Amino acid sequence: MSVVIKGTGSYTPATIKTNDDLAEFVDTSEEWIFTRTGIKERRFATEGENTSHMGTEASRRALADAGILASDVDLVIVATITPDMPFPSTACLIQTQLGVSNAVCMDIEAACSGFLYIMEVAASLIKTGRYQNALIVGTEKLSSILDWEDRTTCVLFGDGAGAAVLGPSESPQTGLLDFKLGADGANGEVLFMPGGGSAHPATGASVDNRLHFLKMRGKEVFKLAVKVMEQAAKEILEQNGLNSDQLACVIPHQANLRIIELLSSRLKIPMDRFYLNLEKYGNTSAASIPIALDEAFREGRINSGDLVLLVAFGAGLTWGATLVRCP
Ligand code: ACO
Repeated sequence: MSVVIKGTGSYTPATIKTNDDLAEFVDTSEEWIFTRTGIKERRFATEGENTSHMGTEASRRALADAGILASDVDLVIVATITPDMPFPSTACLIQTQLGVSNAVCMDIEAACSGFLYIMEVAASLIKTGRYQNALIVGTEKLSSILDWEDRTTCVLFGDGAGAAVLGPSESPQTGLLDFKLGADGANGEVLFMPGGGSAHPATGASVDNRLHFLKMRGKEVFKLAVKVMEQAAKEILEQNGLNSDQLACVIPHQANLRIIELLSSRLKIPMDRFYLNLEKYGNTSAASIPIALDEAFREGRINSGDLVLLVAFGAGLTWGATLVRCP
């Protein structure tokens, strides 16, 4: 049995903020942001529009694309670092908003690699034979954890959601062919949010010390990102007896154009085979890969029979690569 992608959907909020818009209240410029990152604009959720709402809308679109009723979904897994609240899980909130009444629901946190993590978990559960229609969702409201006094991070991120419906197939050569996930907790402090958990619960002091915002050592993340994505991509190709010429498209985590360009040169895969949309959305963490996957399908960048590589890195550190043969 194989596991295939039956449908995809994505949602990005209507509010667009360009680099020039940010430069009105952050000490930065359109030129600095674009030349260092490739980002031109990002979307921000409106007040009251939460991570679960964006995830629900992306899920509705994925279910419609798959031709699956909400009542037929039996598993919901959400990847996010910006849940609506610590508990209940965002998966349970999305379950209620969608009207998915008969499903097991859980969140998994692996930051920007989250969607590749939940893909492997959902695929493995489907292979037990106990689940038929798994809804996997990457959704983030990163604007809720950005420090507008830290120009080295606040210009990089945006909000949005992407989703996919996975299910079993009898055709062994199609669908999710293989996964290569990894983690390195020893490098956790290059990218983290210290406040809000049991180590630093919310107090007046934790707020004053800005502990409830994302912190990043950008240069170190940059180097580690290139290294782990190169390694994961090479390993997954090698263990499947494939070479990079056979890839029709690479969908990388959309964090920084310079990281992707370096990956392209290390893997010897030309840039025109990488799908890019970070110019429009910035880094949307766990939502980045599923939004790009959905747009790549819709724009006809990936077609039946194509071999596609998904590759990501994120806080943790975590990373992953997934090989997909489109049905
Ligand atoms: N606008 C203008 N100037 C800025 C800005 C800004 N927004 N941010 C920093 N600068 C200044 C710095 O103060 C510094 O000035 P100085 O030389 O006078 O001290 C100068 O620009 C250079 O700063 P660097 O930090 O050296 O800039 P760098 O070239 O390394 O680029 C960047 C920074 C874009 C953050 C880069 O390191 C990067 O992309 N790292 C990877 C980040 C990433 O991908 N994170 C995603 C993580 S995924 C997840 O799990 C969430």
